[in-house]
Amino acid sequence: MTVKLQVKDLCKSFGTLEVMRDINFHVDEHEFVAIVGPSGCGKTTLLRTIAGIEKADRGVVMIDGRALAGPGPDRGFVFQQDSLFPWRTIWQNVVFGLEVNGELNAQTRMRAKEFLKLVGLSGFEKYYPTQISGGMRQRVNLARALAINPEVLIMDEPFSALDAQTREVMQLELLRIWQQGRKTVLFITHQIDEAVFLADRIVVLGRRPGYVKEVIQVELPRPRVLALKRTAEFGAYVERVWNLIEKDVHASIQEDAQAPV
Ligand SMILES: Nc1ncnc2c1ncn2[C@@H]1O[C@H](COP(=O)(O)OP(=O)(O)O)[C@@H](O)[C@H]1O
Ligand SMILES: [Mg+2]
Repeated sequence: MTVKLQVKDLCKSFGTLEVMRDINFHVDEHEFVAIVGPSGCGKTTLLRTIAGIEKADRGVVMIDGRALAGPGPDRGFVFQQDSLFPWRTIWQNVVFGLEVNGELNAQTRMRAKEFLKLVGLSGFEKYYPTQISGGMRQRVNLARALAINPEVLIMDEPFSALDAQTREVMQLELLRIWQQGRKTVLFITHQIDEAVFLADRIVVLGRRPGYVKEVIQVELPRPRVLALKRTAEFGAYVERVWNLIEKDVHASIQEDAQAPV
């Protein structure tokens, strides 16, 4: 197996707040890795550092052994809040990254069309984001990230704003797309069951400062179907991750309650 993405000794503080301490993990080529941790443990900061938007105080992020110096088309992102431009149509949103990279041509247009079809949105090209549902918007975000043909797809709680049923459908869609293209995926979530359902491995983060508590190999069969969520085996994985982060979750709730408004 080849290591695709490697995160090495990442440290980051905002002033006196230490957010990440010596974060180390890797994602193999074609692997689906989930990062789980309670709110405030530094997941988004970690993602922004991998994106090259945030600068680490120490440590390095590598793709294929190359250290990354900043943002690049080798990484595609889907964020928690849908980040579509309201004044652009669905199609104009999907090809936005290609435009920015100066890569919009007949071939990449065809690829973008394929991805739009893959996420089930063919026929919606001329719609505007306000004219489609939240689930559809998040699928457009996914198509846009895939359209630039990134080597690694990185997602930060992409389904957390969706209702429970839509989220489950999106999880299945994502697995289907991943299985077809076999992209390398790094998926960040605070939802343990989502991580267990999707991932080959789960990187469990602790908080204050954020650090890697444990990495868990998920040996559940693929392709995964929703019924899997009701099996004892699945429940055992959820329990195992929950036991690792329970204390941190309580601490994070306490802190939220005490935070000045
Ligand atoms: N730009 C910033 N300046 C100061 N503090 C920040 C900044 N970004 C995040 N933080 C703080 O860092 C901690 C981790 O935040 P974040 O990475 O968003 O966590 P998560 O995504 O796991 O909820 C939080 O306490 C947050 O308030
Ligand atoms: Mg976050």
